[in-house]
Amino acid sequence: MQLVAAIVRTSGASLLADLGSGIGYSTLWIADAAGPGATVLAIDNDPSHVAEAKETASCRGLENRIEFETGIVAEVLARETRQFDLIHDDAWFARAPDHLETMIGLLRPGGVLTMANWFLLVDALTRQPSNDWDAFAGPAWAEDTMAYARSLAERDDLAMTWITTPPLGLGVKSADRR
Ligand SMILES: C[S@@+](CC[C@H](N)C(=O)[O-])C[C@H]1O[C@@H](n2cnc3c(N)ncnc32)[C@H](O)[C@@H]1O
Repeated sequence: MQLVAAIVRTSGASLLADLGSGIGYSTLWIADAAGPGATVLAIDNDPSHVAEAKETASCRGLENRIEFETGIVAEVLARETRQFDLIHDDAWFARAPDHLETMIGLLRPGGVLTMANWFLLVDALTRQPSNDWDAFAGPAWAEDTMAYARSLAERDDLAMTWITTPPLGLGVKSADRR
């Protein structure tokens, strides 16, 4: 999240989303880095996670920068009409999520996408799983992860790249596409 926060700071994003915000670790990093005046839409489908995230945000004095939504990312994003400067996606695992097209559609031209969970790609490419991903994501996790990465790399509305340490996907929406 230190790297994501650096990207948030340098991008100057003022409307951001944190998908799969969990108990708020990523949300707090993003809200803090975005600064006063920014808004972070934090979405998670687990009400207990959202409740804990709200409490921590309040303790840190960041609650005014965060809109918490309890629900499935694809459903919450489907109701959105705003164009986001930066979206952080931690609500996918091993394959393309249901919210992929809506998420990219909501990024403004030139908007930034940061993606967690790409340790799966490192593990797939090195064929050295750091965990029992079969149990978490099924036996096709490696092929599915690589297929998802390939499909992102081939999109003409997104310039996408990956770094391995820390494992992070980074995309920028094409400036001439909505
Ligand atoms: C790895 S955890 C998130 C960690 C969080 N970003 C952080 O840094 O603390 C993934 C979270 O995504 C949520 N999640 C997964 N898929 C989701 C979906 N389709 N819609 C909403 N929430 C989802 C889970 O409830 C879980 O809290």
